[in-house]
Amino acid sequence: MSRDLAPDWILKQALGVQHKANAAWKPPGSSTTMSSNGSNTDGLTLTVLGCGTMGIAILGGIMDSLAHQHPQDHVSIPTKSTSGTSTPAEPIPERLPTRFNACVRRHQSAKRIKTELGQYPAFDDLSIYENDNLGPVREADVILLACKPQMVGEIFASKEMKEATAGKLLISICAGVTGEQIHTILGDVDCTVVRSMPNTAAAVRESMTVIATSTPPLSAETSSLLTWIFSRIGRVVYLPPSTMDASTALCGSGPAFVALFLESLVAGGIAMGLPREEAYTMAAQTMRGTTGLVLQGEHPAILKDKVSTPGGCTIGGLLVLEEGSMKGTVARAVREATVVASQLGQGKAGVNGPR
Ligand SMILES: NC(=O)c1ccc[n+]([C@@H]2O[C@H](COP(=O)([O-])OP(=O)(O)OC[C@H]3O[C@@H](n4cnc5c(N)ncnc54)[C@H](OP(=O)(O)O)[C@@H]3O)[C@@H](O)[C@H]2O)c1
Repeated sequence: MSRDLAPDWILKQALGVQHKANAAWKPPGSSTTMSSNGSNTDGLTLTVLGCGTMGIAILGGIMDSLAHQHPQDHVSIPTKSTSGTSTPAEPIPERLPTRFNACVRRHQSAKRIKTELGQYPAFDDLSIYENDNLGPVREADVILLACKPQMVGEIFASKEMKEATAGKLLISICAGVTGEQIHTILGDVDCTVVRSMPNTAAAVRESMTVIATSTPPLSAETSSLLTWIFSRIGRVVYLPPSTMDASTALCGSGPAFVALFLESLVAGGIAMGLPREEAYTMAAQTMRGTTGLVLQGEHPAILKDKVSTPGGCTIGGLLVLEEGSMKGTVARAVREATVVASQLGQGKAGVNGPR
């Protein structure tokens, strides 16, 4: 896939198609089949194009949620926000995904889907396809593109596959692939493309997903559907596309950075004689508790002050971390990962070489 060689006019043309499609996309049939209480009774068909680790995690979150859906859930999406644009409280979409297609290449990938999702009642509404993407994409109302980034061009190489996306919502979670690049691959097909970036904690429904905003904005139905889908696997934030590299660094690479800090806490504990297994649990639960306080609105600097008793052990430890320039080092890691993410997005190789 050529990512960085598209001439300006192709990008402009792709953007024009994207703008038109964004404004126009509505869940199909949204004005037709209505139940007596005014909600639409037809579900959407969601096709996961490349159903591996992330695809399974997202389908698992949706299927689990559908199994526990109560009538009162139709009030608003249960997400909590302390800032204006984060995790917006939106009405539950009129139509939810209720039929599912999962596309893979290898038989063992298909078997993995059965093993991991077979427990959910909605598994009965899932069809798994091996080496057959066209039929399931044609059937789809919504396509979740969750293959490896380098596969995108190949998957949409044929005219039929491009055409099968027409009039549909295509949500990409492929790292480093921009909406414009996907539109360039699809040509002049009228498809609404939304870029998003979940993270590995989707597997335990604790993802931080960043969804790129669109210009013009997506319809209310589309954004409530997106928020609903990704809030099944954690929290959701909408940010402009220009922030996706920094978002990839903070949320995509973030779990690895946090794991290093966790390992450091454990190493200190073990050095001072704590049993290994308990030390991992103690460090992980301490981090979870701290993040819980911050997500409830506690500022980390205040939290730090509150637990630093004058003359106590916490301030002693904090000063060692300050001497080691911990804040600057971690912040620099996020900056470095952002630069690398942007270069990967331009298709550059050897991006971690010396600068
Ligand atoms: N993992 C993360 O933490 C994370 C976080 C954020 C975003 N992402 C993004 O999410 C995407 C998926 O990542 P992942 O970790 O879930 O990868 P993965 O486990 O390797 O899943 C990719 C899936 O795509 C399938 N696939 C490959 N080529 C295909 C084709 N031509 N037609 C249909 N299916 C095809 C693979 O099937 P086979 O195995 O049968 O080939 C596999 O099931 C990537 O673009 C990544 O950048 C990942």
